[in-house]
Amino acid sequence: MENFTFYSPTFFAFGKDTEQQTGEYVKRFGGSKVLIHYGGKSAKSSGLLDRVEASLKKEGIPYVMLGGVKPNPRSGLVYEGIELCKNEGVDFVLAVGGGSVIDSSKAIAAGVVYDGDFWDFYSGKRIEKALPVGTILTIAAAGSEGSPDSVITKEEGMFKRGASGDAIRPKFSILNPALTQTLPAYQSAAGITDIMAHLYERYLTNSKEVEVTDRLIEALLLTMKHEGPRVIADPNNYEARANIMWAGMMAHNNSCGVGRSQDWTSHDIEHELSALYDCAHGAGLAVTMPAVHRYVYKHDVMRFAKVAVRVWGCQMDFDHPEVTALEGIAAFQNFLCSIGMPKNFEELGAKKEDIPKLVEVLCRGNGREGSLTGFVTLDEEDCTKIYEMMV
Ligand code: NZQ
Ligand code: ZN
Repeated sequence: MENFTFYSPTFFAFGKDTEQQTGEYVKRFGGSKVLIHYGGKSAKSSGLLDRVEASLKKEGIPYVMLGGVKPNPRSGLVYEGIELCKNEGVDFVLAVGGGSVIDSSKAIAAGVVYDGDFWDFYSGKRIEKALPVGTILTIAAAGSEGSPDSVITKEEGMFKRGASGDAIRPKFSILNPALTQTLPAYQSAAGITDIMAHLYERYLTNSKEVEVTDRLIEALLLTMKHEGPRVIADPNNYEARANIMWAGMMAHNNSCGVGRSQDWTSHDIEHELSALYDCAHGAGLAVTMPAVHRYVYKHDVMRFAKVAVRVWGCQMDFDHPEVTALEGIAAFQNFLCSIGMPKNFEELGAKKEDIPKLVEVLCRGNGREGSLTGFVTLDEEDCTKIYEMMV
């Protein structure tokens, strides 16, 4: 196990009706004028926004509102939010929605207290300072409710890039599983896939002797394997929603990633797909991960064989562990298809003729220098082959 630090100071309020306490939590974490940031329509039509506003009013906390965050959130609305916060004297950003809303809120919170262009943070500069952010999560997926990360797409060039810093870790996150019961099945499945991706990206490590985190990841993958089909079959299954929601947080606050190198090449490769085709991040991952895994499994066959046996129930073939490894990858892909995720470019809405463009932006765009580092270092030729495997 490698040396590490672990810092995850977010306060979580989990369970039914917890959004009724929003005003108290904003006050507890120092907010006196709030930006409520939200998405397209779900938070409004479900009545959630009304309940959040009522809770702020009850505590006498003034607020302004900015909606319209799209999935794969764009820089344009971030600039608008930064201006609004400066003009209105906002000192707390409250995200009401999914990962896209939370990431846009984090970008605004960092941009308000920064003299330069907030995009600097998405080009490699670490975020050291930000307004406090609170979240009310409506979809279990990205894990942004407990992470120090934000992912934004810049319209010019359609670069989808991440920024990081403890300053943007949410001060509090309200997790009411009942709020996720209105999700369409496809979005639930995309969320399940993203959570499993966050676990796989950490499982694919070159660090030795990391049994505790290996076992945590396997437990969470087994939970997703059990609970995922239950919410697809019954969207109102509160208990299954609850288990998935907490697993989503655990998968990405780095409890499962400490002391070990991590991968993240599937995420990098996917981000180009959701930037270009505006597909759901999880759907893009469902197509990307099996291809990446089949491309890199020989780097550590036993690691893939281990997850195949422990999570997917494959029989270990000691004479041919590569057979077991490949069976595990196939079982994972079959699972993703069984919950309604796409399996290739065509089902995702991606085009083979775009591969050179995808590889160029992936490996050269926004300051990259021709390769991705992770479980295996991938150059432009590798990435081309991986995209071709998805066709
Ligand atoms: O805009 P509304 O109307 O709310 O619709 C949203 C959106 O269309 C809908 N939705 C959300 N909650 C709902 C609901 N519909 C009905 N009922 C509800 N309760 O779901 C759609 C997807 O929402 P979005 O916020 O985009 O989903 P998700 O949480 O998957 O976030 C995806 C974004 O997070 C980034 C992804 O790249 C992508 O841009 N990621 C962020 C990470 C982080 N900050 O740590 C890590 C992840 O790996 C990921 O890259
Ligand atoms: Zn993800």
